[in-house]
Amino acid sequence: MADNKKADYILPGRAESYWLATTPESSYPPLSGDIHIDVAILGGGIVGITTAFLLKEAGLSSVAVIEADRIIKGVTGHTTAKVTSQHGLIYDRLISKFGKEQAQQYADSNQAAIEKIASIISSKGIDCDFVRMPAYVYASSEESIVNIRNEVDAAQSLGLPASFESDLPLPFKTYGAVLFGNQAQFHPRKYLCALAKEIEGDGCHIFEKTRALKLEGDGPIKIITNKGIIKANKVIQATHFPIHDKPGLLFQRLYQSRSYALGVRIEEPFPQGMFISAEEPIRSLRSQPARESELIIVSGDGHRTGEGNEIDHYQNLEKWIRSIYPVNSIDYHWSTQDVISVDHVPYIGQITSGNENLYIATGFRKWGMTTGTAAAMILTDMILGKSNPWEEVYNPSRFKPLESAKTFFSQVAEATKGLVGERIIPTHENASQILPGEGAIVKIEGERVAAYRDEAGVLHTLDPSCKHMGCIVSWNSAEKTWDCPCHGSRYSATGKVIKSPAVYSLSEKKVRE
Ligand code: FES
Repeated sequence: MADNKKADYILPGRAESYWLATTPESSYPPLSGDIHIDVAILGGGIVGITTAFLLKEAGLSSVAVIEADRIIKGVTGHTTAKVTSQHGLIYDRLISKFGKEQAQQYADSNQAAIEKIASIISSKGIDCDFVRMPAYVYASSEESIVNIRNEVDAAQSLGLPASFESDLPLPFKTYGAVLFGNQAQFHPRKYLCALAKEIEGDGCHIFEKTRALKLEGDGPIKIITNKGIIKANKVIQATHFPIHDKPGLLFQRLYQSRSYALGVRIEEPFPQGMFISAEEPIRSLRSQPARESELIIVSGDGHRTGEGNEIDHYQNLEKWIRSIYPVNSIDYHWSTQDVISVDHVPYIGQITSGNENLYIATGFRKWGMTTGTAAAMILTDMILGKSNPWEEVYNPSRFKPLESAKTFFSQVAEATKGLVGERIIPTHENASQILPGEGAIVKIEGERVAAYRDEAGVLHTLDPSCKHMGCIVSWNSAEKTWDCPCHGSRYSATGKVIKSPAVYSLSEKKVRE
């Protein structure tokens, strides 16, 4: 019965993020041949582009961004683009788990990131729909009021622009909210495409369609790519999950979460503000000026990657938005995969054991517009040899056993499940049950196979072991991709790698249907 319901549901609107749909794709050249560079940055999202921009602004003349696909198309191209230091309910927790001093660093760095974005936009005259906007975390149940009150107190104690708001301009019952004033929203691709243009030239480069395969060396680092070798004095891994995690610092301390967004047009004007629920399932709302009429971005319904059916989550969001507003149309749908650290604070800085010329930035927990910009500011200072006041809270080598032990051990258990594929139960008894356009893990001749039947009816069979560390991939029914639940690698339906940390495609597995 449930399966019939899923089969009947047609995903609404265009399968593309609004940000990608309304900006041209970039076309920077790939690397051609070997080069030597001062700073190489792997990954062309908000961290990579902003760091390269800031380094060049600071006078560095030998910086390169290396992107496996096209820039600003991954997580950054699928965000909700709220520019805010309000990251759900976090400050009360940060103070109790990290202490006041480090919570202050987190608050200050994210507030500074908002102002950094605003000042770049103003100094470069970038037209990117940047507008100041209040941000709210609202309680949709009476039980959450105490958490809201505690968060207001915690945020105020850190000097954040926080207050309690009892009367929200939303068309459903709420029980008060944490209000942060003077936050902002923008069009992230308009902003970052403008920054990218500033990077190119005078010894600095953006290389697209250039996949980093391996990092080697202890002093200057050799980056082996599919288009040549780059020797770099310093390397920043600003990919979703670092392709090189040599000391094994991170793979059990980060997990993947997929969430969903719809671009909706409603019959009435949307109130001033960006809104997010305090409770699960998360419901988030913001508006975006658009040529035809204002677009409302409704997002949330996140879950750990590889669990459940993706189409159900779009359906949940659609049902919810239709229950609170009269909807004229749903014009876009998209999803994204975020990487989250076990203690909910990103890892930014040097990987200390291994190579001191190697830096990482990851684990932005869905708030990458500000934490990604803060990462760029911190990494820029580190590369320039300057001290930065916010380094400590983001230190990749931190571990707070008392605070995060429970999450850590449950993460280890989850990762182990992924490695042995315990979570992935074959959904079809044999491949003949897979309909055109569908994929599934099936057992064929006693072996587990990732099988996809294309629209022409041809069955493609793959070894389901992820090329990063061997977790069993799972079928994403909405995006028609194979997703790895462990560290976020993604593959096309026919097994081509589309997202790191894996750098190679899934192996074919010949079977008799
Ligand atoms: Fe790490 Fe798949 S992404 S095992």
